[in-house]
Amino acid sequence: MTPLRLTDEEQALLDGAEGPGVQRAMGIVITLGRIYGAAELVPIASAHISGVSYKNLGQAGLEFLHRWAEEGAQARVDTWLNPMGMEAARWRELGFPADFAEPQLAVVEAFRRMGVTPTLSCTPYLLPGHVPRRGQHLAWAESSAVVFANSVLGARTNREGGPSALAAAIVGRTASYSYHLEENRRATHVVEVCCPLHDPADFGALGQIVGQRVGDGVPYFADLARWLPPLPQDITAGGEAVDRLKTLGAALAAYGAVALFHIAGYTPEAAETGEALLRAEAERIVVDGLEEAYAAMNEASVLEIDLVSIGCPHASLAEIAQVAEFVRGRQLRTRLWVTTARQTQEQAAAEGWVQVIEAAGGRVVADTCTVVAPLQTLGIRSLATNAAKTACYAPSHSGVRVRFGSLEQCLEAALTGQWKKTAPMTASGDYGPARRSGSPNRSIEGCR
Ligand code: F3S
Repeated sequence: MTPLRLTDEEQALLDGAEGPGVQRAMGIVITLGRIYGAAELVPIASAHISGVSYKNLGQAGLEFLHRWAEEGAQARVDTWLNPMGMEAARWRELGFPADFAEPQLAVVEAFRRMGVTPTLSCTPYLLPGHVPRRGQHLAWAESSAVVFANSVLGARTNREGGPSALAAAIVGRTASYSYHLEENRRATHVVEVCCPLHDPADFGALGQIVGQRVGDGVPYFADLARWLPPLPQDITAGGEAVDRLKTLGAALAAYGAVALFHIAGYTPEAAETGEALLRAEAERIVVDGLEEAYAAMNEASVLEIDLVSIGCPHASLAEIAQVAEFVRGRQLRTRLWVTTARQTQEQAAAEGWVQVIEAAGGRVVADTCTVVAPLQTLGIRSLATNAAKTACYAPSHSGVRVRFGSLEQCLEAALTGQWKKTAPMTASGDYGPARRSGSPNRSIEGCR
């Protein structure tokens, strides 16, 4: 194994030239580099830190952050935070107790002292000015953001932990191993999808199936581009392609440990390299239906819905607009949270969409999500969602029972307070054969 080479500057940071906080950070980065056989450190363009909720950190985590801040550690690159356990501005109104809210705000303050910007969102790539460029090295921790950055944007990041992302931010570097290296970005599995995908929830169901099959592998979707419109030049408003891809990536990362996928003729590395991206031993997977995934993510006995949760990963402007159009002029019977970044909430308010949703009785909630918020404290026992990642984690993290379905099914549940099965959707989501170069352009029938 090649030993990890350090520059003189990196060695000085490790020796404590810039104080104990930076020394601690360099120690973490280097330890990981040695464990994973990195030959060098690479500069990073940004860092994104997960594990921000006081629900997960607890008092010990809060004290650890305070100590690090007191040691003078400061982020050297743009560094952002994942959602915390509540909305900063309206925690009282939303029913959060003070003994949760106060330490939660102290956590954010500790990060702020270290130069971290409290974006409090899992979709930094939807925030104008925060979108990584192709080939940039990052140290991101939120798994759904990692997979989006690697796959859709062609940036390079491993699935960092919260402390290792913060350490990388403090030294402005990460160890170069795994997804930072070209050879580890080649596909381990070829996936053929032989069933229609009509709704973003279908992309979540597909992610559930493929994530479980590939684990931490790299899937190459041979014919998925047919179900996707072209990506817009500016992805920050979301839209059909972006929202489908963020849902797919989140599910792949939650049900497996996927950090990177390719779509033939569509995602940047696959569009450029084509089938040369496949490893010789790549295993073939055929997905010929989503029913099993829907059944696995639905607790059939749950009929009464306490909360409808939309926005995992955090909702884009386009998704908020869709919710507003659906509930405009209507009254909800149960709680609806559309979780999003504060910046997106403000943009949606400027369009009048937040007001429409809140007039119906829903809430566009910033800074948090239903997995990291203490739902049981709020008296929530059952939840409906269109997000496979929420369906994966909410039962174990939040102690709630889950219904999973399309956005329309979820919003119907918000209107009635009841979960109802709806008729199958039409095939209007078919965008026809993939339109970018290099796509295999297979028909669904061709799968069998
Ligand atoms: Fe984001 Fe929470 Fe889902 S952090 S990806 S909304 S579980």
